[in-house]
Amino acid sequence: MKNFKRYMVTSALPYTNGPVHIGHLAGVYIPSDIYVRYLRLKGKDVLWVCGSDEHGVPITLKAKKEGISPQDVVDKYHKIIKKSFSELGISFDIYHRTSDKLHHKTASDFFEKLYKDGKFIEKTTEQYFDTEANQFLADRYITGTCPHCGNGEAYGDQCENCGTALSALELINPKSTISGSKPVKKETKHWYLALDKNEAFLKEWILEGHKEWKSNVYGQCKSWIDKGLLPRAVSRDLGWGVPVPVEGAEGKVLYVWFDAPIGYISATKALTPDWEKYWKDENTKLVHFIGKDNIVFHCIIFPTMLKEEGSYILPENVPANAFLNLEGAKISTSKNHAVWLHEYLEDFEDAQDVLRYTLTANAPETKDNNFTWKDFQDRNNNELVAIFGNFINRTAVLIQKYYEGKIPEAGEFTQEDKIVFEKISTYAENIGKSIENYRFREALASMMNIARLGNKYLADNEPWKIVKTNPERVKTIMYVSTQIAANLSIICEPFLPFTAQKLRKILNIEKFDINMTGNDNLISSSHIINKSTLLFRKIEDKEIEFQMEKLEKAKKKNEMKIVEPVKNNISFDDFQKTDIRTATILEAVKVKKTKKLLQLKVDTGIDIRTIVSGISEFYKPEEIIGKKVLIVINIEPVKLRGIMSEGMILMAKNPEGKLLFVQAEKDTENGSQVM
Ligand code: MF3
Ligand code: ZN
Repeated sequence: MKNFKRYMVTSALPYTNGPVHIGHLAGVYIPSDIYVRYLRLKGKDVLWVCGSDEHGVPITLKAKKEGISPQDVVDKYHKIIKKSFSELGISFDIYHRTSDKLHHKTASDFFEKLYKDGKFIEKTTEQYFDTEANQFLADRYITGTCPHCGNGEAYGDQCENCGTALSALELINPKSTISGSKPVKKETKHWYLALDKNEAFLKEWILEGHKEWKSNVYGQCKSWIDKGLLPRAVSRDLGWGVPVPVEGAEGKVLYVWFDAPIGYISATKALTPDWEKYWKDENTKLVHFIGKDNIVFHCIIFPTMLKEEGSYILPENVPANAFLNLEGAKISTSKNHAVWLHEYLEDFEDAQDVLRYTLTANAPETKDNNFTWKDFQDRNNNELVAIFGNFINRTAVLIQKYYEGKIPEAGEFTQEDKIVFEKISTYAENIGKSIENYRFREALASMMNIARLGNKYLADNEPWKIVKTNPERVKTIMYVSTQIAANLSIICEPFLPFTAQKLRKILNIEKFDINMTGNDNLISSSHIINKSTLLFRKIEDKEIEFQMEKLEKAKKKNEMKIVEPVKNNISFDDFQKTDIRTATILEAVKVKKTKKLLQLKVDTGIDIRTIVSGISEFYKPEEIIGKKVLIVINIEPVKLRGIMSEGMILMAKNPEGKLLFVQAEKDTENGSQVM
């Protein structure tokens, strides 16, 4: 194994279109925090960077939906994410952002270098263009019918119903989500990264050179490479992102997956003028922590970019985790089925380590895993409180009680005492090995075993029973217990940093070095410790019920969205008062200076009359001419914007609030009564 001089650690930059939830934490941020805190304890030269991923279509869509600018969207979530990470003790050396100027310049220069070196293929292809909005449509801006399953709301890149990856050109009845109009095909030029030409390199570097990668990561890379790689477009027609630094590329930006990983480099630059040492020196170990949906980008595309650029090192490992479910169901941002970090921090003040502990113990390291609030409570009450907390508390309380806080002199160690120290050394060594191999659950279990060892040592030796008869032995027992506690305060730091700090406060010790673990003299006799404070508090049933109700409420709200509750019953006679008829729309024009209104002329079979209808947001005038519709013909006429409206068109409101026509069969005669 190569001996690296320094470490460059990155964690996937979260998209800034929403806050961070426990799935992100368990998959990426907690494991990388453990890794880096461990390396720092070992005194290694390590930099750890992260930041907000602020470009891409989802952010522009969110902005449009909320009627604010993309910058407003990312400003809002960047702030929330950054603050909540820091409150959980996620100890990045820097949390940067890709809307930063420095990043734009770094990404732009990177592209330009590849461009000048002739690394891109320039290709002109046909893509959908919205003539009304006067812009090309990124995949997510087009919806239509999936050619595979018939889902009417498939996106231009994927059908979320059947999961098939699509190209926008395959959609049946494509529609622009910006204007609602039917897009036209138009030629556009883009730049493609030659993944195909790098096949041999990727095969050798990953398939031959990195067999030690986690099997899920290696397997995905292999299946991608085996399928054969195609050139991949690294630019998009979009108004939000890093502009393509090439003449004649107005209105084009770098593809978000091209600029975002360069964000790691920008963040390092923002952190230190010495950044090149961490990115360009073969003695640096580069490690990317990511979730499984990011594998191809970090193992195939970004490394190809780095290699084509020529001066960068490649990642040594890409430990990707699977996904975390919540109460047996997929975490979903849109359905609000999630535990949001910023909300957790409000509900469980000072219980940061409980979340860190539970998410590490249940980390989806090799396959998808599940988080339940019951398990969260059990792990806290039965493990953190009953084992770890109990051991520390008993030790500190007894030392106060017997010696007024002063660590006693130890007599001769018994065989049992010696074994305790040996075991701690072994555990500490194993923890190091596990962490270095990205097996954090295993490492955490060994850490808890040290606490268990301490608990058992006290229970077996029962100092409280022999303190009168054998005070000398009790001194040794309490001395040994203190050393176990001190060892624990070092070893638990990467996992439970807040607890480590509290524990050191109780022990009245500033800092130890991890290289000292297993030592039987971390705290010497006559050192005075502080009064005990509880490391963990019990989590009550009602707190868990509150969280479960929160999830339940979100679920109900979701279901509500789909179907409106039924109105009060009416009599048949009441219903009979409404005169509904079939009619045909003959003409339609926008009502000037309004957003919603269309002025229609309809043939009711009885007469031709004017109806003003609030559907302009959903339909363009020319789209609806000739439609056979249902109207309420006897509704009291009203004047809308100076136009007399004599009737009402019946529309169906879908869950998103969009109005859709309720249509009669084409050959129904106008004026037919609906009953
Ligand atoms: N924003 C992406 C996601 O949340 C991750 C980007 S990682 C980076 O899936 F490397 F591109 F920065
Ligand atoms: Zn489909």
